[in-house]
Amino acid sequence: MSSVYRNFFGFSKDPFSSDIEIKNIIQTPEIKAINDRFDYTVKLGAIALVTGEIGAGKSTALRWIVAQLHPARFRPIWITASSGSILEVYRQILAEFEIKTATSSRATLTRMIKKQISELAQNRKLQPVLVIDEASLLRLEVFAELHTITQFEGDSKPWLPIILIGQNNLADNLLHRSATPLASRIVARRHLESVNREKMDDYLIHHLKIAGLKNSPFEEAAVTAIFQGSGGIFRKANHLARGSLIAAAADQSQSVNVEHVRLAASEIF
Ligand SMILES: Nc1ncnc2c1ncn2[C@@H]1O[C@H](COP(=O)(O)OP(=O)(O)OP(=O)(O)O)[C@@H](O)[C@H]1O
Ligand SMILES: [Mg+2]
Repeated sequence: MSSVYRNFFGFSKDPFSSDIEIKNIIQTPEIKAINDRFDYTVKLGAIALVTGEIGAGKSTALRWIVAQLHPARFRPIWITASSGSILEVYRQILAEFEIKTATSSRATLTRMIKKQISELAQNRKLQPVLVIDEASLLRLEVFAELHTITQFEGDSKPWLPIILIGQNNLADNLLHRSATPLASRIVARRHLESVNREKMDDYLIHHLKIAGLKNSPFEEAAVTAIFQGSGGIFRKANHLARGSLIAAAADQSQSVNVEHVRLAASEIF
């Protein structure tokens, strides 16, 4: 199915893909706003929160920001959270340093992480930045304890800034009493908004262009339908745009109309 519509429209690769290259990420004002908060938080060695709807572009924004960090100055540590225990989180962090351990002692794991962080910060003069994606999945016990890996020399050395990325309930989880030590270290927050109709138009044109198409096959009304159907959320727009291209190709139509978007919408959630 995919190669038929690709050839029909003359795409050089699959459009609206999730594995967008760094150079093709649109530097939206939202990304700029997150980047400012990222820099501020890293400077303070504190914690920042990035929230947003599912598929709004949180991971992509952070992927772009982390890619801009100079490797001679920064050492990003990126983990994707799961609903596992704090031990799992600690092991994931250590795995980023290529350290595998079977110990179940929180004290030992914390010590091992802090040793790596202070080695980076003090000996190698590299600024570590811990990015935890999907942080809304973390258990409350993790929120209650995570701040301990940021405490160096009686909490006087802010060597490990943390960027927490997650869906909207992440902020709610941080309001829990047990999460107060972590929440009290948050210095910046940004909620990634959905885009408006005009930005959605730019977004679609951008993705068409990086897949090798100069002229947009989407009729104005189809763009409106994709905007409305997606609620301004990028991933959903990707699915609607791709699906409606497939529907148009099946219809032997070089232009994508509202009916094609409607057909695409009937297949996604
Ligand atoms: N700045 C951008 N430029 C180009 N495409 C983007 C941008 N941001 C997001 N996208 C597109 O939207 C898709 C969804 O974005 P992303 O995976 O970053 O969302 P998310 O908010 O992290 O979602 P989730 O809540 O599921 O983790 C990406 O795969 C990409 O195709
Ligand atoms: Mg994500």
